Amino acid sequence: MARHILAIDQGTTSSRAIVFDADGRAVASAQKELTQYFPADGWVEHDAVEIWTDTLAVCREALAAADLAAADVAAIGITNQRETAVLWDRATGQPVHRAIVWQDRRTSAMCRELRAGGHESLIRRKTGLLIDPYFSASKVAWLLEHVDGLRARAEAGEIAFGTVDSWLLYTLTGGAVHATDATNAARTLLFDIRTHRWDDDLLALFNIPRAMLPEVKDNAADFGSTAPDLLGAPIPVAGMAGDQHAAVVGQCCFEPGMIKSTYGTGAFALLNIGDTFVESRNRLLTTIGYRLGGRTTYAMEGAIFVAGAAVQWLRDGLGIIATAAESEALAREVPDTAGCYMVPAFTGLGAPYWDAEARGALIGLTRDTQRAHIARAALEAQGYQTRDLMEAMTADSGTAPVSLRVDGGLVANDWACQFLADILDIDVERPTVIETTALGAAYLAGLQVGLYDGLDDLTHRWRRDRLFAPAMAAGDRERLYAGWTAAVRRVMTEHR
Ligand code: G3P
Repeated sequence: MARHILAIDQGTTSSRAIVFDADGRAVASAQKELTQYFPADGWVEHDAVEIWTDTLAVCREALAAADLAAADVAAIGITNQRETAVLWDRATGQPVHRAIVWQDRRTSAMCRELRAGGHESLIRRKTGLLIDPYFSASKVAWLLEHVDGLRARAEAGEIAFGTVDSWLLYTLTGGAVHATDATNAARTLLFDIRTHRWDDDLLALFNIPRAMLPEVKDNAADFGSTAPDLLGAPIPVAGMAGDQHAAVVGQCCFEPGMIKSTYGTGAFALLNIGDTFVESRNRLLTTIGYRLGGRTTYAMEGAIFVAGAAVQWLRDGLGIIATAAESEALAREVPDTAGCYMVPAFTGLGAPYWDAEARGALIGLTRDTQRAHIARAALEAQGYQTRDLMEAMTADSGTAPVSLRVDGGLVANDWACQFLADILDIDVERPTVIETTALGAAYLAGLQVGLYDGLDDLTHRWRRDRLFAPAMAAGDRERLYAGWTAAVRRVMTEHR
């Protein structure tokens, strides 16, 4: 019996495929960097065809590296950057425009108008989200408005909309399946996460034809099979979830109160809140943690737009480091940032500020500021931003978290993990597998095809690599954090 799972992790900056064995060990992987297009201030686009061809290429590469044939693979699990909107022609299978990426801010005026029109409370009640360019709906509306003749074709049922999961499923199945999963649907602003339906009021608000939308399935489900010629033989696609939700599964945060935070391009903390939808009172998002067997577990989410991307900017924008890993050694060179703060609001601020027009800042520079201080400030910002989320979560739930499970590329950095523990004043737990989003996708697919018995079975597989316990004096912690909140105030539009 085939006992490997092929996990596809299509992220903001790269497309990856990882082959896992049934014990959750990564046996081979392949990766390609994804081209980023910045056509105007605050605009971010991807080429959906590149996303597809890269994904297929890394799947083939990873299988070859693992020395496996399609017949050895029990199933595929897909996880993906969320919210990014792809529109394609159902007849040709070709995208009608570049994908508009979750970070893209071009619809901030549209969102401001909708907020001014008093629509936010309806949106919060149905979707758990708020009105922000981050989510898919305003991006789809923009495309329908700006691509010649598109609206008429969409109304005639000729155009399909999907987030990246849906686009990859469509292409992998040779155009046979247009579906998504509940977690990705939950990020569109069009899906009622209490009733699990595409919502007519929301579709009307954004003027989006229902005919464009995919079918919504559980996270572990029969999503169809890959077209036979792509990977040598058909492989069932059996798991799908937005990357942050897949990380909840990969981190085995199955009990209410458990929290994970994933540090990729952005950083996203999700708190399991159980089977009841609760609206945040502190500008967090309510979302679907996962939906299995028709049963939904909800999560409270804090979304930070720039995490690893700040380190990438040190490398590619400022050129003060050659590799991301170098940031750790640099941060350790100095005892502190000498009063320097980086607010990495390159694409606005997410939770809990939600300021689409804020832009980044480096504050507190002196003649003595060196690149080590700036690198350290970029890493510290990840801790401060996470603390902002934890404060909001504590205010919402009334209880402070006792520990945080972390994953994603940035947490390979021991210094950053320790700073996180220090500034949050809670234990930070790093698992042995930090590619947790891909692992979560593999777990979902494995659940569907019977490789795992259920969530308890997965829980027993979670392994801690290292625990970072808080070690900073309370006075230092609060002084540093107060400096951060003052720095954030200086970039926010309402204070300008
Ligand atoms: O909501 C956006 C998120 O899904 C992107 O994740 O890993 O590419 O930062 P990542």
